Amino acid sequence: MTDQNKHKISGGFSCVILAAGKGTRMKSALPKVMHKVAGQPLITHVLSACAPLLPEKTAVVVAPSMDSVKQAVAAFGKNVQLVVQTEQKGTGHAVLCSKEFFNGYKGKVLVLCGDTPLITTKTLEGLLEAAQSHEIVVLGMRLANPFGYGRLITDASGRLEEIIEERDATAEQKAIDLCNSGIMVVSGDRLFTLLEKLTPNNSAGEYYLTDIVALANDMELHCQTVEAPDSSELAGINTRAQLASAENVLQNKLRAQMMENGVTLIDPQSVYLRSDTKIAADVVVHPQVVFGDNVIVESGVEIRSFSHIEGAYIKEGAIIGPFARIRPKSTIGKNAHIGNFVEIKNTMLGDGAKANHLSYVGDSDVGAAANIGAGTITCNYDGVNKHKTTIGAKASIGSNSSLVAPVTIGEGAVTGAGSVITQDVPKDALALGRARQVNKENRAKK
Ligand code: UD1
Ligand code: MG
Repeated sequence: MTDQNKHKISGGFSCVILAAGKGTRMKSALPKVMHKVAGQPLITHVLSACAPLLPEKTAVVVAPSMDSVKQAVAAFGKNVQLVVQTEQKGTGHAVLCSKEFFNGYKGKVLVLCGDTPLITTKTLEGLLEAAQSHEIVVLGMRLANPFGYGRLITDASGRLEEIIEERDATAEQKAIDLCNSGIMVVSGDRLFTLLEKLTPNNSAGEYYLTDIVALANDMELHCQTVEAPDSSELAGINTRAQLASAENVLQNKLRAQMMENGVTLIDPQSVYLRSDTKIAADVVVHPQVVFGDNVIVESGVEIRSFSHIEGAYIKEGAIIGPFARIRPKSTIGKNAHIGNFVEIKNTMLGDGAKANHLSYVGDSDVGAAANIGAGTITCNYDGVNKHKTTIGAKASIGSNSSLVAPVTIGEGAVTGAGSVITQDVPKDALALGRARQVNKENRAKK
């Protein structure tokens, strides 16, 4: 579905995302939903999956003092609001906390867990479509190892009778492999009535959201299960091991997509991508390369091993690495070369420019075909402020030069090896900023 398809989910819908849980099993000071997969918080993945379906409004239920979640949520605009669950009394209680926020809303409410980051827009769209004809639709998944998940008790037609949590299940119920993904759609005009009937009569002493299914059946409302085609999308993250396994699933998906688009990954398993990494066809990525946020790579680029790249735009035909580090706000020109142990930050490197060995180039503007000799450092920081270095086209910076910013090296200029350049160098000049060598005959032995 495209963003223009505003009303594809007929009648509209809204979301509530549960994120207030203590996340005890993560053993972390960070809220569970702020742990990251492919560089983004779990909650960001869930919100990103919902966003293209244009929910009318979204409540993210958090515990008090989860300020970091507030920041992650802010990126999704003012239709997404935080709702505070003061005490964590269970998933049913968490949804109930959004009653005021929904304020009599009659449309469909999509309930998601903030700890299920691999869910896709397509699956949610299918679930919302199926929800049109039922009061409650629960997204189910078949698992070879269902341990820890709620089990869906259904009849032969897929009609859902109840959901039993692992800890409350009998041995017979534990053998059921159809599990609750934690994602469901409930009619807004029923949801809060059902939630208000919940009791904490279970082994956890919590108000389980999942109990609304049995309550709805008591009222003869129709509850249905929709089975997800790909259960790997529905993995819930409760432990660090599950976090690592979700990372693995998502990375494999991103890698497969890259290769499908015509990118060569010599050793896909060792390349780490972000959901927003854009790499054109006919780029070759060698083993052990890590992409951070916001990287665009044009075609014909070769990225050699052990390079770490974030916030960079790399133009056609450039060669990066091995062992290169490119930091945010950098543009690498066409056919430019960045070699081993070179760090580039907030720099525009012109077409065909080269920095091949052991250099730091920061806050700089480097002209086309300039050559930055081995061991060059742009001294951009004076301890208080950062300053700019400008290097003209075709300039040649001698090895082991320190360019003390702010400073400009003119077009075609040359700096002698080992120079400390503190003053601007005119176009086509040779600048020497080092002590002259003195040879003392026969003094070596002495
Ligand atoms: C839940 C479901 C289980 C399902 C599984 C899928 C219930 C009772 N169980 O179990 O059937 O198979 O998800 O992953 O719903 N949360 C709150 N407030 C609370 C408690 C939890 O906001 O008081 C949030 C958590 O932050 C989390 C989500 O609700 O994002 C689910 O809670 P969690 O404790 O992870 O439930 P599970 O044991 O995984
Ligand atoms: Mg969970």
